Amino acid sequence: MSAQQPTPLGPPASVLMTGGSGLLGRYLARELLPQVERLQLLLRHPSQKLREELTAFLTSGRKDLERRLIFVQGDICERGVVPPGRQRQRLCKEVTHLYHLAALTSLDLVDEEVLTRFNVNGTANVLAFARECRNLRKVNHLSCSAISGTAHHQHDYFYEDDVDLGQGWRNSYERTKLVAEKLAISARRDLPLTVLRPVFLIGETVTGYLPFKALIYHLFDLLAGLRTLTRRYPPLRHLAQVMPGSQDHYLDLVPVNYAATLAASIGQAYSTRGKTYCLGNSHQAMNLVEILNLLLPLFDLPVPTFFYHPGRLTALARRAKPRTILRALLDLGGVPPEAFAYLDQTLRYDASNTEEHCEQVGLKAPYLPDHLPACAEYYLRHLA
Ligand SMILES: NC(=O)c1ccc[n+]([C@@H]2O[C@H](COP(=O)([O-])OP(=O)(O)OC[C@H]3O[C@@H](n4cnc5c(N)ncnc54)[C@H](OP(=O)(O)O)[C@@H]3O)[C@@H](O)[C@H]2O)c1
Repeated sequence: MSAQQPTPLGPPASVLMTGGSGLLGRYLARELLPQVERLQLLLRHPSQKLREELTAFLTSGRKDLERRLIFVQGDICERGVVPPGRQRQRLCKEVTHLYHLAALTSLDLVDEEVLTRFNVNGTANVLAFARECRNLRKVNHLSCSAISGTAHHQHDYFYEDDVDLGQGWRNSYERTKLVAEKLAISARRDLPLTVLRPVFLIGETVTGYLPFKALIYHLFDLLAGLRTLTRRYPPLRHLAQVMPGSQDHYLDLVPVNYAATLAASIGQAYSTRGKTYCLGNSHQAMNLVEILNLLLPLFDLPVPTFFYHPGRLTALARRAKPRTILRALLDLGGVPPEAFAYLDQTLRYDASNTEEHCEQVGLKAPYLPDHLPACAEYYLRHLA
């Protein structure tokens, strides 16, 4: 393994980021702000309230940081992304680094056309904008480990260089993110582009804090629903001994602040262009049984005695009739059946490029069993 340091950015940069109001976006923006000369956040609706909220989160009241932060109105679904005018001209002249995070991330949104407009056409528009930036040194495209779709049916590992292995999809989000990543990869012909693929985001290390729920919190929703149901109807407690999952099912989780640290560090390095990085830590992927063992006591649920295949649960949940226990559970937790499909995962995400980068810059992945319980406790106090 090379001990060479990755080539850094050079002089402090002017960064443009899409998706800065989103979950990962605000953590990445907070990580980048002290490191750059100017951070421009592209927002669809830069209301006074949102600007104040983001400024407080990103700067913690530091005036020097506030001066570096600029909000730009724009929409990735519009051709040109930023409306014509002086600000657009300034950005095209000045921006050195672009981070593209904006996307529709809903799992249960089935309107393929809408998802295509945001995730695929939106990415094409951002890449076209990047080509207009005359001093651009780096584009970072945020993809998603879930582009692996149903590759777990044929493969044990999904490598960072793997993209389209002919896999199917569990939902339209996955499909549109895969098409978007393919667009980004083909743009490497003329753009210095890095693909960053986060695994599932969870709350911050130590505190478990999260401003709003991430996708995998549907698992917490399910457990919270089960807790409510068993408290209301104690005889149903034996039902809680049946849990989805097995020793073969894995979940790759990454604390949101660590994913942002990785994205900032990899995204800032020039030498990472042309490569793909899985923002996770394959050595730490826990199987579902290990995860449930950490979580169940916090949700006041019994140790499971029987594990049910999550894939079958997805099929059952899709057909769950009104006034059945399963329907009540889904409704209580607000869990879309599509969420169970992610518990049926035997695939491991290789993150060799990320691990090599971390070794070079001295970044150490947080130990998940130390942090996951804090995420569940924060969820139960503030998000349930
Ligand atoms: N969360 C995860 O577990 C996870 C895991 C792997 C990969 N990712 C990827 O990481 C990226 C960020 O994810 P996230 O969880 O932070 O997403 P998120 O919380 O859903 O935020 C999405 C962001 O995109 C913005 N956006 C949506 N449509 C837009 C448009 N037409 N123009 C401009 N901005 C638009 C939203 O702005 P508004 O405030 O206007 O809605 C918001 O800032 C995404 O590309 C996602 O696919 C996420």
